[in-house]
Amino acid sequence: MRIGVLTGGGDVPGLNAAIRAVVKRAEMEYGHSVVGFRNGWRGVVEGDITALTREDVRGILPRGGTMLGTARYHPHKNEGGIDGVLSTLEAERVEALICIGGDGTLKAAHRVAKAGVKVVGIPKTIDNDVEGTDLSIGFHTAINIATEAIDRLHTTAESHNRVMVVEVMGHTVGWIAVNAGIAGGADLIITPEEPFDIEEIARFLRRRHRSHANFSIVVVAEGAEPAEGTDLQFSTQIDEKGRIVAGSIGERLMMELKERTGFDTRLTVLGHVQRGGTPTPTDRILGSRFGIAAVDALSNGAFGVMTAVRGEEIVLVPLEEIAGKVKQVPEDLVEVARALW
Ligand code: F6P
Repeated sequence: MRIGVLTGGGDVPGLNAAIRAVVKRAEMEYGHSVVGFRNGWRGVVEGDITALTREDVRGILPRGGTMLGTARYHPHKNEGGIDGVLSTLEAERVEALICIGGDGTLKAAHRVAKAGVKVVGIPKTIDNDVEGTDLSIGFHTAINIATEAIDRLHTTAESHNRVMVVEVMGHTVGWIAVNAGIAGGADLIITPEEPFDIEEIARFLRRRHRSHANFSIVVVAEGAEPAEGTDLQFSTQIDEKGRIVAGSIGERLMMELKERTGFDTRLTVLGHVQRGGTPTPTDRILGSRFGIAAVDALSNGAFGVMTAVRGEEIVLVPLEEIAGKVKQVPEDLVEVARALW
């Protein structure tokens, strides 16, 4: 079998581990050949292709990013996109596709599967919001980076008696905020799932500083918004592509808290640092397990599915079941965070 592999959407650490596992498993276990499409679905439509052998993937395991490049391009949203995918696959004699991506890439994978292509998806996103899997590639590294940043901010916050607002990624869900917030000992965590009341937050900080602390760490996800009817009118800044502008909510929150509490307040926007650099062992292992499971699935005739981890096990989930859905942070995890404020 000739298998094509692509990485789509935002890059994450651990993608190269998955690509490497796909190539090694395909070649060594089944004698399949593998080609890579550059820059996600765009590369498939444009026929931007490269052969991938064991030699090509040597040394990529610890490297962040993706050796194939990536793009936020979805064939079903562009005129002639799906036809472009089909004609490239035919011209290049590619019989099956492994698509490594987040919600957008996997939704496109579902559309392409419906058009008759043998597709297996692999979930990746630092946001950890892909439905159907406990973990997506990249999330573990991102919370490691964010936790380390919060640890570092703690010592400087304490030394200066400051309130530190830390903005992390997460435009619709607060997986990074809640997990890094718990691990880093944040004093308040604000997520997109639960619109906030600015006055309640200011009151909480005033009380905390009056009773037992001289500093505070406030973690906020970039997609957090004030609750309707509360004392703050604010809409997050959106760019020309409809995406949240990093730092928008963080900056406003910092200004408001400074004014409402009188405390010296600073903002740190972690931004793309959360997606950069070396993957953690957990992400390398997850990427490797998903890569092997994806090739096994194709080789055993399982198509239109996504690899997923549930507890200790790797399972296959129909793309149909997860496409277009967003996995929210469970309430019991949010409760753990609250119990520690
Ligand atoms: O979807 C992953 C993500 O890292 C989000 O958390 C963030 O909002 C977005 O990508 C940033 O996108 P870009 O890299 O295109 O600025």
